[in-house]
Amino acid sequence: MKHIDSAKHTRGESIYLDDIPLLQGTLFAAAFGSPLAHGTIRRLDLSDAEQCPGVVRIFTFKDVRGENQIGGIIPDEPLFAENHVHFIGMPLALVVAESDAAARHAVGKIKADIDPWPVVTDPRVAQANGELIVPPRTFRLGDTEKAWSLCEHIVEGRTDTNGQEHLYIETQGAYAVPLEDQTIRVYSSTQAPTAVQRAVSKITGLAMNALDIEVTRLGGGFGGKEDQANVWAALVALACLHLKKPVKYALPRVDDMVMTGKRHPYSSDFKLGLDKDLRIVAYEVDFYQNAGAAADLSPAVLERTLFHSTNSYFIPNVRATAYSCRTHLPPNTAFRGFGGPQGMFVIEAAIAKAAETLNISAALIQKRNLQRTGDEFPYGQRAVSEAHACWQKAEDLYDADALRKQVDSFNMKNALFKKGLAFMPVCFGISFTKTLLNQARAQVHVYTDGSVSVSTGAVEMGQGVNTKMLQVAATTFSIDPALVKIQATSTWKIANTSPTAASATADLNGKAVLMACTEIVGRLKDVAAAELNTPPGNIELHNGMVYVDGSPTGMTWKQLVMAAYIRRVSLSEHAHYATPEIHFDAAREKGHPFSYHVYGTAIVIVTLDCLRGRYTIDAVKVVHDFGTSMNPQIDRGQIEGGIVQGIGWMTMEEVVYDESGRLRSNTLSTYKIPDIYSVPAEIAIDFLHTDRDNLAIFRSKAVGEPPLMYGIGAYFALRNAIHAFNAGAALPFDAPMTPEKALMALYQKQVKHVAG
Ligand code: MTE
Ligand code: HPA
Ligand code: CA
Repeated sequence: MKHIDSAKHTRGESIYLDDIPLLQGTLFAAAFGSPLAHGTIRRLDLSDAEQCPGVVRIFTFKDVRGENQIGGIIPDEPLFAENHVHFIGMPLALVVAESDAAARHAVGKIKADIDPWPVVTDPRVAQANGELIVPPRTFRLGDTEKAWSLCEHIVEGRTDTNGQEHLYIETQGAYAVPLEDQTIRVYSSTQAPTAVQRAVSKITGLAMNALDIEVTRLGGGFGGKEDQANVWAALVALACLHLKKPVKYALPRVDDMVMTGKRHPYSSDFKLGLDKDLRIVAYEVDFYQNAGAAADLSPAVLERTLFHSTNSYFIPNVRATAYSCRTHLPPNTAFRGFGGPQGMFVIEAAIAKAAETLNISAALIQKRNLQRTGDEFPYGQRAVSEAHACWQKAEDLYDADALRKQVDSFNMKNALFKKGLAFMPVCFGISFTKTLLNQARAQVHVYTDGSVSVSTGAVEMGQGVNTKMLQVAATTFSIDPALVKIQATSTWKIANTSPTAASATADLNGKAVLMACTEIVGRLKDVAAAELNTPPGNIELHNGMVYVDGSPTGMTWKQLVMAAYIRRVSLSEHAHYATPEIHFDAAREKGHPFSYHVYGTAIVIVTLDCLRGRYTIDAVKVVHDFGTSMNPQIDRGQIEGGIVQGIGWMTMEEVVYDESGRLRSNTLSTYKIPDIYSVPAEIAIDFLHTDRDNLAIFRSKAVGEPPLMYGIGAYFALRNAIHAFNAGAALPFDAPMTPEKALMALYQKQVKHVAG
């Protein structure tokens, strides 16, 4: 089945926040963000701005009706700065005016007098200063201290991974509309309608039941709207409450890039020990997460870094410690992979360093240490592993030996171009690591014309979750998919939603849809049985028709629905699903946090231009564990998109803040993301076939985040290409590997050998 939005998207008919027809009297908002990253506010001068034409009112913290607080996990983030500023772009005031242009013009007239304080942008410095968001956490397995003596080879090192701008095509924004009785509807570009509802409730002082947060779809979220859509929604709702007028705010791109947080940069130290057979015996790692100025989702991201610190490998002795470090950057936030990629980069770097030291291929170490079913993760869960299956199939299907030979012979023949190849195995846990979030609800109505309406807490952001929800309903009722409509997500229809995140949305909401539809089917079968004078066990619904004992009866779906209505049988159901089996004890750092894991292996091949440092990604060849994909076309799209986004993070996207905490890469001319010219020339995707049962919806495993991490392979393939030209280059593990860094590495001083 095609993505149900594809025709609408292509024709430009899809409705995003900025496409909502405006109500008469709508006002427009723009925030004034702090010009300094750290300091005390001495004076905020609004007088010139207030005189600007079209300005209706300017709001500050004094206008907050509830509590000036939007911190989700920890209450450490005021909506409006009161006395102190903590990052550049932190809102100090909100101008509301008759037009967008008037609001922005007036923002330029606001003057803030701020006493500057020292600015910290480096997480290691923050950690040394004791600036931690939460106490450090450590995961342990076995005993690393004892294990070092068993090691034949030990390597140590440091890695750094940079942040990443989400660059959703649709920027952040919200539109608040006053309804009667002091209730407000907020159209919000959010992945988390309930998080927005809570934040708006806190700021306005209105009860949650007075707030309908509605989302039709997002033009991308990628984690950037899991927590950080709250700000804009809270701002417009507050203005709406005061002015009793609709208020809209859709951020210009530069403001979005400057004011919102990104993927967390990490700096890490590792120590890895192997025995003489290349078995990894021990691994120690310290992660320094750059959280930015407030907690946001950083503690949860930090946790997932620990969960994924050993990637697809079984390591018997592990000590992994993580620090969430407070700096003066915008609060960093969720981004596809949610700390997992940062953890995986470090173990891959440690393995690469061991391989480079021993002068062997990293793949030898990787393959030898892949986890098997029954192996224990450092957090206590036992693996149901497809790691070997994926790796072996990738080697066989893509003829890895031949690929290696092609790379070697190319490198022999070419002096100024070098190829590099790397394997990237991935293992990603599915479920929110916070167990309580693993619940969802669905509401299903069948109307008397046979059409069906489905509401869930899922937010469509391009990933195809609505298409999957529609498939679940149409399959369970066995009716034409054209009869099913997935409705906009709304907190008045579905309450207490978990964010659309953690790749778990289709699983959680899909199971709830399945439960609701199954319940209605049961009632309909009873009705059919009564109408047709046969036991309900003989009834089957198939392709929009009622069957008895396998034979068609002539009764249609629509007739059956009408018969149920006439008999006063309920044609609606609200179902609740909570993932079974999962638990986690944070005091012991042990448990069974994930409903299952997703596995895969990618082979990445690159060609490096050794005169210019430029490169192309020739191929990414993947064997991926989809379980039994319920929509191969959508799932393929997720793999391709994830790979490209991962390659962008690892190779070209460079977030640059200067020492004053100012974002220098704040436009698309200075922040480079992959485009159609820089995507891999070839992406091959093989669907690993497995028959194992799992907790995924229709056994179709979650696919949103795991493929991003295949992109890490591009970094290591480039490293190998650089070493093919300059074997002695002592490269730091410092991602992204931009063309500039590649060029510097190619011509590093300690050149031992230049081919040709
Ligand atoms: N795909 C598109 N097109 N747009 C997005 O914003 N977000 C990704 C992934 N794929 C995203 C996407 C992220 S970060 C996650 S967690 C999952 O989709 C969320 O959706 P799911 O739970 O339905 O997989
Ligand atoms: N929690 C919240 N959001 C997420 C998670 C998680 O565990 N994983 C990926 N996105
Ligand atoms: Ca952003």
